[in-house]
Amino acid sequence: MNRHLISIADLDRPEVARILRESHRFGEVMARDLKKVPTLRGRSIVNLFFEASTRTSTSFELAGKRLSADVVNVKASGSSVEKGETLKDTVLTLDAYAPDVLVIRHPCVGAARLATQYTNAAVVNAGDGAHAHPTQALLDLYTVEREVGPIDGLHVAFVGDVSHSRVARSGALAFRMMGAKVSLVGPATLIPRDAEQALGAEVSHDINDISSADLIYVLRMQRERMGKGGHVPTLREYATMFGVNHSRIRTGQRVMHAGPMNRGVEISPALADDPITLVERQAGYGMVVRMAVLHDAVARSGSAAEALAEAV
Ligand code: CP
Repeated sequence: MNRHLISIADLDRPEVARILRESHRFGEVMARDLKKVPTLRGRSIVNLFFEASTRTSTSFELAGKRLSADVVNVKASGSSVEKGETLKDTVLTLDAYAPDVLVIRHPCVGAARLATQYTNAAVVNAGDGAHAHPTQALLDLYTVEREVGPIDGLHVAFVGDVSHSRVARSGALAFRMMGAKVSLVGPATLIPRDAEQALGAEVSHDINDISSADLIYVLRMQRERMGKGGHVPTLREYATMFGVNHSRIRTGQRVMHAGPMNRGVEISPALADDPITLVERQAGYGMVVRMAVLHDAVARSGSAAEALAEAV
């Protein structure tokens, strides 16, 4: 069993199902008046964020605290990274404090995997460049189970900037693993040529093809990863051609977005605010799913089985 969670491929279907069940158990605890459990008392978690985040960083911090772990948050801004310290030296330094879990977000593909070489902690990837965001995929699965129903047999269409999207890459693998059909819809300039084979998904460049999906997963236009243009003529043109709005949605479809949203670009403001769009529920469920992931990471490390017996 792999004790790190770097990509969805580190899990198999029964393991994903177990994490979703545990998320549900933690969700029940969070509905109580007293929202703290002693599950990770005496354990320490370092959240190391080299890239901007609201949802992932907040929910990991709260998740660790609700599990009674000691939680330390390190952001590149204000840390010795600003003085030129390398990722290797930063991870080695933090490892000197013997954390049980290192949660890491970094703009470079492979950074989380690299971190595993320099720490004894279980490493959880909170997003590495355009590669992977496995906890986002798990919370997306959980959201669908809670708000829509069984995933097996659903059709999920990811729409937009697939090329720069770790959310789409991890999500496509996760939804397929759990029995959903996945399609990728967007301009040819924003869908990698090997996407069909690599992600086991149908590819379409016609926005009308989202009509057959049960779930429309709208992807953020990742302007910060696009460099100097060339992917779309203008954002206004992109919004006209591929922006998801009420006129492109049929009754019964649900809409997802990992956030942050570019309102008026990939999703219309009216659709973003419509209750058929699950974006706020995704954010809310992120905390209990990350509680389950942290619990699992410590359990997988093998050293904490006895502490976990206290559980929920
Ligand atoms: N969805 C997501 O990863 O959001 P943040 O960048 O705010 O963490």
